Amino acid sequence: MLKGRHLIEPKDFSLEELDEIFTLAEEIIENPRDYLEVCKGKLLGSLFYEPSTRTRFSFEAAMLRLGGQVVGFSEAGSSSVSKGESISDTIKTVGCYTDIAVMRHPKEGAPKLASKNSDIPVINAGDGGHQHPTQTLTDLLTIKALKKDLSNHTIGLCGDLMFGRTVHSLVKAMSRYENIKFVFISPPELKIPDYIKNELKDNNYYETSDIEAAIEDLDILYMTRVQRERFLNEEEYLRLKNSYILNNEKLKNAKEDMIIMHPLPRVNEIHTEVDNDKRAVYFKQARYGMFVRMALIMKLLGVDKNA
Ligand code: NCD
Repeated sequence: MLKGRHLIEPKDFSLEELDEIFTLAEEIIENPRDYLEVCKGKLLGSLFYEPSTRTRFSFEAAMLRLGGQVVGFSEAGSSSVSKGESISDTIKTVGCYTDIAVMRHPKEGAPKLASKNSDIPVINAGDGGHQHPTQTLTDLLTIKALKKDLSNHTIGLCGDLMFGRTVHSLVKAMSRYENIKFVFISPPELKIPDYIKNELKDNNYYETSDIEAAIEDLDILYMTRVQRERFLNEEEYLRLKNSYILNNEKLKNAKEDMIIMHPLPRVNEIHTEVDNDKRAVYFKQARYGMFVRMALIMKLLGVDKNA
């Protein structure tokens, strides 16, 4: 039963619960008209303490497409946070006015702290360099829909594996499915953190800095940008920012049915010429993100199209 629960990290939900969400998302994709009013009279609080395009838009669009409404802020400066209010006081207050809250915050653990002080469901929309579970729902639904299965894949994750929270959440989530192999492709300075690797079996992954050598093994290539805002030193960012630029040439040895994913925003790491390759699915992926958030909101609110 997902009603009333929080989503702070992917493992908060069992595989069966995740499957329920994907099944509902696929139903919504088939028949969006059946869901136009299921959240009528419900309000989503959208608390974005850090910039966002896709995540905020997709959550807000999701709620509006379900017939609900949205209140919130997209800059902490325009809320009482700028007066020094604590996260727990903010969420208690937001809970007086809304039915469900989504929070993005630069501090790791902030949404978790909020959830502990909240009477309404709290969804983590990204906390610092830590986790981003709804991007993971998006990624899993994309893989399920386009590769037909969440098991039996070799997935290459490329770019900033140290600070990229979407990578951290996706690895945690994918490691729960059968026969998944990870290839971590990054410069040595931006390697995947140990706390993520430690949860994997040694023979389920390898690390490399060479995308061209790894690409032919992959069923899924998940590209990420170098996370400028998490660097303490701008020069270091400038040195690393163009470590990988995927182009048609580098895709030469990739499988015909490999899919190329990216949580977006893209900076330079995928050349726009790749957008025309049938393997490039990152904009489709963004669209799946809205549908999976519609399903998530419905489940956490416990609403149903027949209720
Ligand atoms: C990601 C994020 O915010 O972590 N964006 C997103 O939600 N789609 C990826 C990123 O910012 O690089």
